[in-house]
Amino acid sequence: MAKTTPITRSAEWTALVEHRRLFDGLTLRSLFAEDPQRGGRLTVEAGELYLDFSKQRVTDRTLELLTALASTAGLADRIEAMFSGERINTTEDRAALHTALRRPATDSLFVDGTDVVAENQALLERMAGFAAAVRLGHWRGHTGKPISTLVNIGIGGSDLGPSMAYEALRPFSQRSLSVKFVSNVDGADIDEVLRTIEPATTLFAISSKTFTTLETMTNAATARHFIIDKLGADAVSKHFVAVSTNRGEVTRFGIDPQNMFEFRDWVGGRYSVDSAIGLSLVLAIGPEGFREFLGGFHDIDQHFRHAPLDRNAPVLLALLGIWYGDFFGAQSHAVIPYSQRLAQFPAYLQQLEMESNGKSVALDGTPLDVQTSPIVWGSAGTNGQHAYFQLLHQGTPLVPVDFIGFAEPNGEPDHHHDLLIANMFAQAEALAFGKTADEVRNDGVAERLVAHKVFPGDRPSTTILGSKLTPRALGQLVSLYEHKVFTQGVIWNVNSFDQWGVELGKVLAGRIVGELQDEARPRLDHDRSTNELIERYRRLRGRA
Ligand code: F6P
Repeated sequence: MAKTTPITRSAEWTALVEHRRLFDGLTLRSLFAEDPQRGGRLTVEAGELYLDFSKQRVTDRTLELLTALASTAGLADRIEAMFSGERINTTEDRAALHTALRRPATDSLFVDGTDVVAENQALLERMAGFAAAVRLGHWRGHTGKPISTLVNIGIGGSDLGPSMAYEALRPFSQRSLSVKFVSNVDGADIDEVLRTIEPATTLFAISSKTFTTLETMTNAATARHFIIDKLGADAVSKHFVAVSTNRGEVTRFGIDPQNMFEFRDWVGGRYSVDSAIGLSLVLAIGPEGFREFLGGFHDIDQHFRHAPLDRNAPVLLALLGIWYGDFFGAQSHAVIPYSQRLAQFPAYLQQLEMESNGKSVALDGTPLDVQTSPIVWGSAGTNGQHAYFQLLHQGTPLVPVDFIGFAEPNGEPDHHHDLLIANMFAQAEALAFGKTADEVRNDGVAERLVAHKVFPGDRPSTTILGSKLTPRALGQLVSLYEHKVFTQGVIWNVNSFDQWGVELGKVLAGRIVGELQDEARPRLDHDRSTNELIERYRRLRGRA
């Protein structure tokens, strides 16, 4: 790979460093006072989502400089390279083509001689047929009973996406079919599920891109023992299906390839909720609901591909992240959905953002001189208000926030919803404008308490408001963040589609597990600390 010039050497970066100084004396109060239209102007609509950027510490000039930075980084060409199936995942020599999975049936895209859109439509049809059979009770378990519980066994992208989306879209799900998720190799996870299910009416979906992941294969083997123990060895074919790219391993595990839903290796784990990995979601919300979900992704794909950079929602989210991380030194980014149904969305984004852009070398392997992915965190509002919001309002770190909310409830009590959204708007307002010492004094607060009750303000946030949390809106939201991550990866010049950083721990664990389980006392040659921990664990487990 040819050496590239670091983005920090560009004229646009230098201009941003210079421009940043302006903000030492510039407050959001003053920006709003100078430009009364700002609140309506610094907004963008993408699909059904309305994004309000006005409470960000930016001027029009900042946005001009940031979008110029994106252009200099070659964003437009890189977007086309991704959508057209170029092998942009250079360290794994693959395309990153999740966007092909949500293209309409009328499109086509040829990769190595295959129309991958047509191939995916055929897969969607198979998934729809299977989902209909299960949902209508035509798919029977070994004893002839219909299925009432689906257990998805997977981890990382093979768990977080389907699990997050299922929780988000429960109002659209067939309530008579309950969907459970098992991910952790900690036996407590599967144990609690196996205690509650009826084997004769349970179907397991073993979801793993590689079908070699330790956690998933361990849980899958435990589930298979459970079914064999309760229903006999012949029951496996009626109680297990697989979602994977690895037909060989699926067959070796004992699942008939007829009961396997395949996807391609150019779908990254954290980008796979829109692939066959979404099988549990198809069963829950039905094939039509899933097509709507994919339609939402496609809406934002189109927006990302065609909207000008300064009106492009994912690009603007990305640029603001770079603005705070690289020019203000913000180390973390909070995402706070004011939606209990989106409680798992921050965890989903943790993998999407941190596994994609938690990198410290450029595409050409040279060390980076920029700060890449922030620590992404958050939880559902209003709960966070009673936990960590104190730090957001008065703490020392700068934490930019994304607030996400929807105008319409999904059948939940209406008056709860107004309270929920009032809180979201109020938090963004309080963070941005704060409360001065004089305002505190005007409330009659004793002088010794004034400093404690001041809110400094100038704490930036974006508010993302949708009309209703539907399958389509959720697809739009996920796609919005996928393309944000891609844009940041382009500007930081990292490969957002590999994850070599997870490998070393996996290899070491493989070695240590043998040392924990050896009958005879093993010869340990780790560092002293790891040796001591292994020995102590063995003693605590009563091993030699
Ligand atoms: O360990 C990280 C990872 O490779 C993720 O990228 C992926 O989503 C997860 O493990 C699960 O992998 P698989 O779907 O192959 O089981």
